Amino acid sequence: MSILRFVLPALAVAGTAFAQCSVSGTTTIQNSGDATALASCKTFSGSIAIATGTTDNIDLGNMQAITGDLVVNNASQITTLGGAGLKTIKGTFNLDQVQILSTLSFPQLTTVGTILWNALPNLQQLTFTTGVQMASTVNIQNTELSSLDGINVQTVDTFYIANNRYLGDINMQLTNVSTSLILEANNPGVNVSFPNLIWAFNMTFRNCSSVQTPSLASLNGSMGFYGNDIQSYAAPNLTEVGGSLSFVSNTQLTNISLPELTQLGGGFQISNNTLLKTIDGFPKLKTIVGALDFNGNFTDVELPSLGDVRGAFNIQSSGDISKACSNFQSLKSSSVIKGSYECAGLQSKPGGAGTTPTGTATGAGATKTGAAGRLDVSAGAVMGMSGVLAAMFGLL
Ligand SMILES: *[C@@H]1O[C@H](CO)[C@@H](O)[C@H](O)[C@H]1NC(C)=O
Ligand SMILES: *[C@@H]1O[C@H](CO)[C@@H](O)[C@H](O)[C@H]1NC(C)=O
Ligand SMILES: *[C@@H]1O[C@H](CO)[C@@H](O)[C@H](O)[C@H]1NC(C)=O
Ligand SMILES: *[C@@H]1O[C@H](CO)[C@@H](O)[C@H](O)[C@H]1NC(C)=O
Ligand SMILES: *[C@@H]1O[C@H](CO)[C@@H](O)[C@H](O)[C@H]1NC(C)=O
Ligand SMILES: *[C@@H]1O[C@H](CO)[C@@H](O)[C@H](O)[C@H]1NC(C)=O
Ligand SMILES: *[C@@H]1O[C@H](CO)[C@@H](O)[C@H](O)[C@H]1NC(C)=O
Ligand SMILES: *[C@@H]1O[C@H](CO)[C@@H](O)[C@H](O)[C@H]1NC(C)=O
Ligand SMILES: *[C@@H]1O[C@H](CO)[C@@H](O)[C@H](O)[C@H]1NC(C)=O
Ligand SMILES: *[C@@H]1O[C@H](CO)[C@@H](O)[C@H](O)[C@H]1NC(C)=O
Repeated sequence: MSILRFVLPALAVAGTAFAQCSVSGTTTIQNSGDATALASCKTFSGSIAIATGTTDNIDLGNMQAITGDLVVNNASQITTLGGAGLKTIKGTFNLDQVQILSTLSFPQLTTVGTILWNALPNLQQLTFTTGVQMASTVNIQNTELSSLDGINVQTVDTFYIANNRYLGDINMQLTNVSTSLILEANNPGVNVSFPNLIWAFNMTFRNCSSVQTPSLASLNGSMGFYGNDIQSYAAPNLTEVGGSLSFVSNTQLTNISLPELTQLGGGFQISNNTLLKTIDGFPKLKTIVGALDFNGNFTDVELPSLGDVRGAFNIQSSGDISKACSNFQSLKSSSVIKGSYECAGLQSKPGGAGTTPTGTATGAGATKTGAAGRLDVSAGAVMGMSGVLAAMFGLL
């Protein structure tokens, strides 16, 4: 016992004496003494890892910058990690499988290369007082965070937030997403708001309760909504989508409004949105380079500006859409719609592109049966869509 009491302080002192502020790779911290020693470095050049067996609280004190990564991987006994002075982690801030970590306190942290967090089952909140404003990647999975308060990035390359089952709110000043934003399998009640988001490449929303993007003006890639509880989606400023646009299995959705949208570079899919009765929120949509594929329970489909559909065209509904079908039939006749064509109402099982409406005996060109509102001119139609889009819609 007396030996142990003597040895511990001696090691701590030794740590201070040999504090090294620059390593070529990674320095590994075993305990609070090691951290205290490093805390005297204003900038640490290299990466810092926290050892698997660490039980102490780790405090990086007044250290201001880490030029490499800060990594805590599979440390099951650490509860507190912080640094009052840390402003920058140039590399990756990686927390993975840190089971009882409950306090993450970096009140001045503003810049991180990559936030990569996974499996933090006791992390309920962040103590990031200033808030992270710059990060090229934010990837947060399997935490107990109830909000992302403390992360308020303006621009990001990739933003992936998944399986955070208590996350009730995602709201930040994001303006640009240069690669992708994906939200999925978080708390299904999660309310999402990006009031300043103007431009994104790809965005995918799954299992959200509401999604607000009032400033969104353009997307180079695709946007999809799958399995959300959203009741409506509006993008009043969105004019152009470079890829495709999809609304699938959003069981509460009753209103989609994209009043300025003129062009879709890919396909347009509206499928299995049980309560969606009216599709009339696209008054300026003129060009669809891919396929149009709508199926559901709607009774009204209006696309008054439609001037060019280069891919396949499929609309099937359980409702009576004979009026819509007769409008689209004339667009097919005048070759506005260039691909294969299907428009059928009063279907017991309204299907997606590639399915033949029930009631048809042998598919394309077959004799029209009793299904009212059905107009079938699919035989011999030209497939103007790309293989990629066709595959996406299950046509190949
Ligand atoms: C986590 O650390 C424990 C020992 O502390 C080790 O047995 C286990 O293999 C590690 N797991 C992973 C995934 O690294
Ligand atoms: C999301 O917003 C709705 C409507 O304001 C609210 O009722 C609900 O509680 C919010 N969800 C969460 C998880 O806070
Ligand atoms: C965001 O994207 C817009 C449009 O592409 C661009 O003009 C602007 O410079 C970008 N902002 C930042 C901070 O990257
Ligand atoms: C955007 O999404 C499309 C379709 O899912 C995919 O093919 C493409 O690689 C994505 N692009 C980026 C930059 O993520
Ligand atoms: C929508 O776009 C207009 C014109 O570009 C702009 O003045 C307006 O502020 C935008 N609205 C939002 C909510 O960003
Ligand atoms: C996004 O699309 C715009 C307009 O089509 C184009 O000018 C820009 O270069 C594209 N950005 C990327 C990253 O592809
Ligand atoms: C989440 O959305 C997916 C579709 O993207 C769906 O299959 C799944 O059932 C949804 N989960 C919940 C909990 O709503
Ligand atoms: C659908 O949403 C738009 C935009 O929020 C709104 O102007 C319109 O009145 C809504 N339509 C219905 C039927 O609620
Ligand atoms: C729509 O629902 C039907 C029946 O549940 C299913 O077969 C089909 O795959 C769904 N379509 C999409 C695009 O999810
Ligand atoms: C139509 O509504 C019924 C319930 O009223 C639902 O079971 C079915 O999945 C819906 N069909 C589509 C294609 O959304």
